[in-house]
Amino acid sequence: MTVSIEHQGEVAIVTVDNPPVNALSQAVRQGLLDAVEALDADPSVKAVVLTCVGRTFIAGADVGEFGKPPMPPHLPDLVARIERAAKPWVAAILGSALGGGFEVALGCRFRVAVPSASVGLPEARLGIVPGAGGTVRLPRLTCVETAVDMVTTGRPLGARKAAEAGLIDAVIEDDLVAGSVAFARAALDRPLPDALRDRPAAAAAVGFWESAAKTVAARAKREEAPLRALACVRRAAEADFEAAIAFERETFLALRGSAQAVALRHVFFAERAATRPPELAGVTPRTIRSAAVIGGGTMGAGIAAAMRDAGLPVILIERDDGAVERGLANLRAIFDGAAKRGRMSSDVATERMAGVTGTADYAALADVDLVIEAVFEDLEVKREVFRRLAAVCRGDAILATNTSYLDPERIAEGISRPERFLGLHFFSPAHVMKLLEIVPTRASAPEVVAAGFALARMLNKIPVHAGICDGFIGNRILKVTRAQAERLLLSGATPADVDAAMRAFGLPMGPFEAQDLGGLDIAAFQRKAARTRGETPFAPIADRLCAIQRFGQKSGGGWYDYEPDDRTPRPSETVAAIITEEGKDWPRRDWDEATIIDSIVWPMVNEGARILEDGTALRASDIDLVKIHGYGFPRWRGGPMHYAQANGLDKVVEALSTFAGGGLADPPCDFLLQAALRGGFSDAPR
Ligand code: 3HC
Ligand code: NAI
Repeated sequence: MTVSIEHQGEVAIVTVDNPPVNALSQAVRQGLLDAVEALDADPSVKAVVLTCVGRTFIAGADVGEFGKPPMPPHLPDLVARIERAAKPWVAAILGSALGGGFEVALGCRFRVAVPSASVGLPEARLGIVPGAGGTVRLPRLTCVETAVDMVTTGRPLGARKAAEAGLIDAVIEDDLVAGSVAFARAALDRPLPDALRDRPAAAAAVGFWESAAKTVAARAKREEAPLRALACVRRAAEADFEAAIAFERETFLALRGSAQAVALRHVFFAERAATRPPELAGVTPRTIRSAAVIGGGTMGAGIAAAMRDAGLPVILIERDDGAVERGLANLRAIFDGAAKRGRMSSDVATERMAGVTGTADYAALADVDLVIEAVFEDLEVKREVFRRLAAVCRGDAILATNTSYLDPERIAEGISRPERFLGLHFFSPAHVMKLLEIVPTRASAPEVVAAGFALARMLNKIPVHAGICDGFIGNRILKVTRAQAERLLLSGATPADVDAAMRAFGLPMGPFEAQDLGGLDIAAFQRKAARTRGETPFAPIADRLCAIQRFGQKSGGGWYDYEPDDRTPRPSETVAAIITEEGKDWPRRDWDEATIIDSIVWPMVNEGARILEDGTALRASDIDLVKIHGYGFPRWRGGPMHYAQANGLDKVVEALSTFAGGGLADPPCDFLLQAALRGGFSDAPR
């Protein structure tokens, strides 16, 4: 039974049991509707407690049903029916009451929750607005500022904050059901508050809507849903209840099938699938209760911070005492920065640092469960580190490298028990960026790979399995993007044209601005290494810039010029002259925004197809996650592979063939051609 009823005297307890997250499937909606009818008709019942089994209250509508025709009973009708019930309903919340789940709770006369619970309307994150009265009832329960913040950001509120905002009537410290039944009984002794539909909406201060629209538009950039959600709350505050409900429903239905909503749903399911790859089903991960990081530079400090944020004790190893102090200072700067920005209290920052032991003595690692190496990108330096680790660490401790471009197989050569080794590739800043590429070697044991995925979950990161090749998934595509961006310059576009087009597409930064920020020297170093391997990386202009020490912002100029202490990119005559010289034999053409975007994004997809073909990525959606969480690809576009499929792979093939005809891109690879014939990507041929 997905919905069951039991009785404790005059209080009935309605329990939803629909694992894993009690989503509002058709069966749950029907079960709840039947329950209201039955309990209204039962004279022995005076009040109803609505709760759930498992780890959470109702976490929302069943997102899997969004692509299908809606089936009655519809959620808005169910919420309205609960609201009109003859007996007061009390929502007893544990875990998360989200989306439709919170809307059901808003239909109840009261809401109580355990302290760890949270409530929210995250629909905007799925490209839609609440569809069952959330935007209309919320401003009848709390102020418009809170309502607007909740529906436009999708951020949930914890139980205590929700109680302060008036969304929760009581926080229940002890047993939830017993506390809720007691709450319901006490409520029967007092006059009942009005149902939300009968209460007036909160008033907004003069100018509030105009300033909220500016703030929301700036944050949302080109995402549609947040502004549409704002419009719904405004309508709720200004129109009558029924008109506002109709407006919200109309907006919900209009957005549900939109390209952005489809893309965001794709990402939602891809993210959840990523943490539990089918190839590791049934494998028990090795346990990680303590960790160490070797190297306290940019990456090492960030990785250590991420592990402290997850509560793991961390040992930080550096080359000597001076370097240990510098590494600890890097780590402290991260926590102090977080405290300064109000992201944690200074007490928490102090507690995070207290869990870090800095030392130059490898003997301290004798009992750690996991060691992540983040020393210089140099094969010999890394090998020496792993030789020492293999000698001092427990035989079952996991040893991981954070290398960007070196071959993990070669780093691990010669270490004892190589099954404990793997690549864990974090992205900078490692305590912020969500992506974690998990790179097994041929010898990595399944339970070690599974531990990589478990670690990602612990650190609240998105893990993606990546095979070994130059740059794994993300940096391999990045190389193609950069080469492609240079081709555009050689054929008549300017760095500012390309950057502006890619920002308009939704990236936070264009490819040239991004290189100036990160520094051109790192990629130059990679190209040098590739050339010594006999490869021929394409970067004629970047090579010239590096030859004259134009490494980006840090050297006062790169693709752009910079004034001292000013990060504003200014077009550079030096760079323009180099582009003209290098491009003298290239056919010139006019570049408009749409063609620039196509000529950057479709080659990404072509490389993505090759990555699927050779098994470096196992799923097209994994490539989407890599680009979204590691490189700022707009989430609402669904990632490059989804975006290509949504546009039609046949169109992508046609555009690539045209670019290739003009020498402006590689032709579509076989795998992409076949996928276009099939009408979509399928998983790697394994
Ligand atoms: N619909 C369908 N499936 C859902 C779901 C939903 N709303 N929420 C979660 N799931 C599934 C996941 O896909 C996953 O499936 P899997 O085991 O097959 O991979 C499983 O439930 C467990 O999910 P998580 O791994 O995310 O579990 P956690 O315990 O880490 O997190 C959670 C639980 C906080 C509830 C999290 O799942 C979550 O945030 N869910 C999304 C909630 C949401 O967005 N709700 C709004 C939906 S839209 C809506 O309600 C419209 C309404 O206004 C009409
Ligand atoms: P970094 O130069 O900032 O830090 C390296 C640190 O390692 C220095 O503090 C150095 O003192 C220490 N170190 C060197 N040899 C050591 C040894 N034998 N024992 C202990 N400590 C030692 O370098 P960064 O940027 O942190 O990179 C580290 C690794 O992470 C490299 O492999 C790099 O390719 C990789 N990486 C870097 C990214 C980035 O954006 N910077 C992104 C992802 C991976």
